Amino acid sequence: MRLDKFMSAAGVSSRKETALLVKKGRILVNGIPAKKPDMHIDPSDPVTLDGVPVIYREHIFIMMNKPLGIVSATEDPNEKTVVDLLPEQLQRQHLFPCGRLDKNTTGFVLLTSEGQLSHRILSPKRHVEKTYRFTVKYPLSPDDIVLLSAGVTIKADSHASEWKTAPCTVSVDKTDPTSGEIILTEGKYHQIKRMMEAVHNQITSLSRISFAGIDLDPALALGEWRFLTDAEEKMLRYAADT
Ligand code: URA
Repeated sequence: MRLDKFMSAAGVSSRKETALLVKKGRILVNGIPAKKPDMHIDPSDPVTLDGVPVIYREHIFIMMNKPLGIVSATEDPNEKTVVDLLPEQLQRQHLFPCGRLDKNTTGFVLLTSEGQLSHRILSPKRHVEKTYRFTVKYPLSPDDIVLLSAGVTIKADSHASEWKTAPCTVSVDKTDPTSGEIILTEGKYHQIKRMMEAVHNQITSLSRISFAGIDLDPALALGEWRFLTDAEEKMLRYAADT
């Protein structure tokens, strides 16, 4: 791959800018100053600009632990978005969140530039699992759990129409029936909040802990991110194709 193509694909510099940076000796390939902007490199060669590693990946998949107050969008005129939490170089790579979490929901957001894969993962036909930890205002009774698990009818509002939720898995903690986990295979607007309202309860906190069989890395603090591992990427592709 040409160095200037690599630099622009990495979101670092245009072809013109790369030529200038090479002239100034600011780009090193394998620790040696690059001689020409059109020199051929192996995309796995270590490349640095002013000593800072240039990250290039053909396919980018990012696991982020979304904090409260951040919107799941690429840009927003008033709010900070999940893309804003990434380094500038990655912000230029046309990444977008695969599915949405509400502003006041925390946890696993997947960011990618692969539109096709994202589309397949989110397709209602695939029934991709998403697991959330929740707390609610009032204890969930065994009857509530039966109702929620079988599917409840969600009332229409100005954002969404009435619908019956698909069967799902709900459990509460042994010692605290106001907290638990829910596994959904669909992703409708404010789904869990509205499901809890359907059983006369109220979500007090919500966090996604798993997506398409991939668990949120407990080492990621709120606002932190990392690339998916090869094994996680394989799981994602499997979920998108089955
Ligand atoms: N259900 C909700 O109500 N909110 C989310 O963010 C995700 C699922």
